[in-house]
Amino acid sequence: MKQENKIPYKIYLEESEMPTAWYNMRADMKNKPAPLLNPGTLKPMTFEELRGVFCDDLIKQELDDTTAYIEIPEEIRNFYKMYRPSPLVRAYCLEEKLQTPAKIYYKFEGNNTSGSHKLNSAIAQAYYAKKQGLKGVTTETGAGQWGTALSMACAYLGLDCKVYMVKVSYEQKPFRREVMRTYGASVTPSPSETTAVGRKILAEHPGTTGSLGCAISEADRISAD
Ligand SMILES: Cc1ncc(COP(=O)(O)O)c(C=O)c1O
Repeated sequence: MKQENKIPYKIYLEESEMPTAWYNMRADMKNKPAPLLNPGTLKPMTFEELRGVFCDDLIKQELDDTTAYIEIPEEIRNFYKMYRPSPLVRAYCLEEKLQTPAKIYYKFEGNNTSGSHKLNSAIAQAYYAKKQGLKGVTTETGAGQWGTALSMACAYLGLDCKVYMVKVSYEQKPFRREVMRTYGASVTPSPSETTAVGRKILAEHPGTTGSLGCAISEADRISAD
């Protein structure tokens, strides 16, 4: 197998090299991405409209097209140190299988309990929810990685966490489901009888095994029902 001696399989940064700000790419884009649209009015979502779903600091970030660097609060940076820096891995085997001159790298994020990069965002979202005085959060999960990440972040910060998990995944992945419960989250298979939208979907499609869209609808509507 070809291996350029200079480039190791894994490259790690030092803890001291970890970023202290999030990069908001939109600030540097000449053509800004299309705005989020209100599905009812088809007009760009306003701060007030987004308050039904996100907490205030996150809406400010979501709607910010001009600030390139957003400082990461110290508590989040300290949390990150539990499992970051994660290594950049050179995929030598894949390159050989593909017989490609390309140099392929991937970021290995399996070294935290959530098993993915999603913990980076989950801890920030839970942090801002807590800062705003919310007692808990509600979310959806498909395969379960996002739900695991948010459950873990909520356990760390002492927030309640409700997760709507796509029913087929809830049944097929009991271990993923139980990890969330171990972190103190309540996990409900979706569609469920606990929301009006869940009941409607069950009535119209009694045998459905659920979908991410359906679970999102339940998580979104729970506070409104
Ligand atoms: C908020 C949210 N929910 C769900 C998902 C789907 O992932 P999972 O299947 O791990 O729930 C993602 C993926 O990025 C996500 O960001």
